[in-house]
Amino acid sequence: MEPHRPEVTSPGRIASLYDDHHDRYVERTDHLVPPGRDSFLAAVPTYSTVLDLGCGPGRDLLAFADAGHAAIGVDVSAAMVATARDRLAGRPDCAAHLADLTALPLPDGSVDAVWSNGVVHHLSVDDLRTALREVRRVCRPGAPVHLLTRAGDVTGVAFGGRPADGGSVPGVLLWTPADFEAVLRDTGLVPTVTAVVADPVVADLEWLHAIATT
Ligand SMILES: C[S@@+](CC[C@H](N)C(=O)[O-])C[C@H]1O[C@@H](n2cnc3c(N)ncnc32)[C@H](O)[C@@H]1O
Repeated sequence: MEPHRPEVTSPGRIASLYDDHHDRYVERTDHLVPPGRDSFLAAVPTYSTVLDLGCGPGRDLLAFADAGHAAIGVDVSAAMVATARDRLAGRPDCAAHLADLTALPLPDGSVDAVWSNGVVHHLSVDDLRTALREVRRVCRPGAPVHLLTRAGDVTGVAFGGRPADGGSVPGVLLWTPADFEAVLRDTGLVPTVTAVVADPVVADLEWLHAIATT
């Protein structure tokens, strides 16, 4: 019998999983500072427009807004976007959009820096390529792009992603640094650093922190 080959969970299914796990996700992750967020902020010029890909409930958007930036979030989960919008209410030039990363609802050349924590392992290779081309389209030349995604010893789909230990994201895509850098280059970005970092909470979980410029 053929072994069952896992696939990356579709964006529609991802949206409903994160809708369902919204409260638990907020409870478990709101206090965290993702690895690399401070170094990202240090690389962003003052009064920038900062795009958070897969912003979730907006913890990082709020940090970017507090640092004086126009924080723009995009996420496919309606529940997550609703919370992010609540949190950004009254913040000038900040917004959260309900949209897929493969079709960013933003004008060409309107973004100065891009952040994404714990998101692109939910995208297939084709969707990641499309999303990265969208990043190039919406960014001004030379924008810093920081992406944290799941790392693996080989690039491929694994079972067992978790919206904050919900344990029910069937397939996520793990990346080696070399393969991820190759996709960044193929889509016209310039990788500058890729590093594997340990999850601050969960043992044996590793993240790939990829830094590039547009
Ligand atoms: C693990 S959460 C990370 C949320 C936030 N970045 C954080 O650090 O807490 C993953 C988020 O990515 C969003 N997401 C996954 N695939 C997406 C896609 N194709 N387009 C937009 N958002 C997506 C999910 O809805 C979810 O809110």
